[in-house]
Amino acid sequence: MPNSLWDVSRKYVLRTYGCQMNEHDSERIAGLLEMDGLEQTESFEEADVIVLNTCCIRENADNKLYGQLGNLKKLKEQRPDLQIAVGGCLAQKDRDIIQDKAPHVDVVFGTHNVGRATDLLAEARVRGPLIEIIEESESFPSALPVKRDVSHAAWVTIQIGCDNSCAFCIVPAVRGREISRPYKQLVDEVEALAAAGITEVTLLGQNVNSYGRDLTLKLRGAELGQDAEYLAGETWVGGSHTARPLFSDLLRSVAEIPGIRRVRYTSPHPKDLRPETITAMSEITEVCEHLHLPLQSGSDEVLAAMHRGYTVDRYLKKVHAARNQIDDLALSTDIIVGFPGERDVDFEQTLEVAAEVRFDNAYTFVYSPRPGTEAAELVDKFVSPAVTSTRMERLRKVIERSRRLGNHSRIGRHEEVVVEGHSKRDPDMLTGRTRHNRLIHFPVKRPIRPGSYALVQVTAARTFNLAGELLEVTAAPKHRTRIPVVAS
Ligand code: SAH
Ligand code: SF4
Ligand code: F3S
Repeated sequence: MPNSLWDVSRKYVLRTYGCQMNEHDSERIAGLLEMDGLEQTESFEEADVIVLNTCCIRENADNKLYGQLGNLKKLKEQRPDLQIAVGGCLAQKDRDIIQDKAPHVDVVFGTHNVGRATDLLAEARVRGPLIEIIEESESFPSALPVKRDVSHAAWVTIQIGCDNSCAFCIVPAVRGREISRPYKQLVDEVEALAAAGITEVTLLGQNVNSYGRDLTLKLRGAELGQDAEYLAGETWVGGSHTARPLFSDLLRSVAEIPGIRRVRYTSPHPKDLRPETITAMSEITEVCEHLHLPLQSGSDEVLAAMHRGYTVDRYLKKVHAARNQIDDLALSTDIIVGFPGERDVDFEQTLEVAAEVRFDNAYTFVYSPRPGTEAAELVDKFVSPAVTSTRMERLRKVIERSRRLGNHSRIGRHEEVVVEGHSKRDPDMLTGRTRHNRLIHFPVKRPIRPGSYALVQVTAARTFNLAGELLEVTAAPKHRTRIPVVAS
């Protein structure tokens, strides 16, 4: 019976296809939609607005989007009032191709105008389908309202874009040049998050260790005073005498904020991983002892062709330095298989490095040519799918082995976990996340709220997760059950 406000509320579906930055943008898009009074649903049939926040890092990400848009065509024919919007990196790359291939799409927006998502939907209702892609902007997603799915942890973008030119990668083309957020703005944002009960933050950037590189120019123009302190932080102004504010200073400032118990970051580029960052990780209790250091390949030739800017030897030296200094460090990585020109001998070297480092986790990808990137031109050097799939299988085994060994090494230990919620398979089991970013399942007799901290003894290990027994709950969550939409 249509007798309440609920019956008239408009609903939206939001699908996210990409990395944490893409997910972070989605939180902002959801925040804007909810500020407009829309309510989230998982059902396409119920939705008045569907937003697809896309990724184009590999070709299958492209295919997924066009497949999804094909499925939505019928729905749009049945309900012409339904609005479909496509945002994110694929939109930035493909622009008008999206509406050429899928004319039923109402709005296409890019990575630099996430904040315009709801305005564009409103405009399209009046003017018809539209595309708005801008090339560059200094607006960071964090300046927008937010709707988080998880109430105890938050992402904080410290830098957008990427100034590197890895031969395989499309990110610089779709995310633009590297721009760091002012230091003080970041500290203020984390203070506000902590005040709202957030206890864990993940600092995000494509290349977090080069944080501040672009601020150097601005610092030269700034009088030593308020501007400099806003851009570069107290540590720098107080005389750290470095050319720019350092990522390691930022780690310290963020970790010092009362209420913040865990700090994570992703990703550092191996060529820019500085000794100061390793030292900061070893000294600051709040910074989780987990380093995600993308290797990409274990062959110097391939690394050079990729323009990664480091050799295997330099990578290994950084790994050893980190392991020597940071107590109980977990290491994860990204590896690409079948980069153009990768020979058997190159791949064997990747296996050797992977076996030597014994990564706790690794994301492995088959090379995918991306239009406009340097490597996509090397057609005559492409590795055949048969060869890449055999290589992938071999690498998967090596990674699985080290992952299993890593998990086994935790048996008997007492791990601090943050409770994430009930296990999907068994409601009497809780799932928690360790400082190493491992998932651990443990039985409970009474409910424990997500966001609580607990001590769990590890009793068993599988390839992908751990099992344990609850020892004690060490801290209750501080946030309200769900953080409302706020403009931060
Ligand atoms: N900025 C991050 C990586 C972002 S992309 C960094 O430099 O570490 C995440 C991962 O996707 C990369 O580390 C790489 O392993 C993989 N990747 C990027 N482009 C790819 C491509 N064209 N084909 C296959 N994998 C790719
Ligand atoms: Fe891509 Fe390389 Fe930049 Fe990472 S550092 S986003 S892999 S260009
Ligand atoms: Fe992320 Fe994919 Fe874009 S990995 S930066 S959403 S291309």
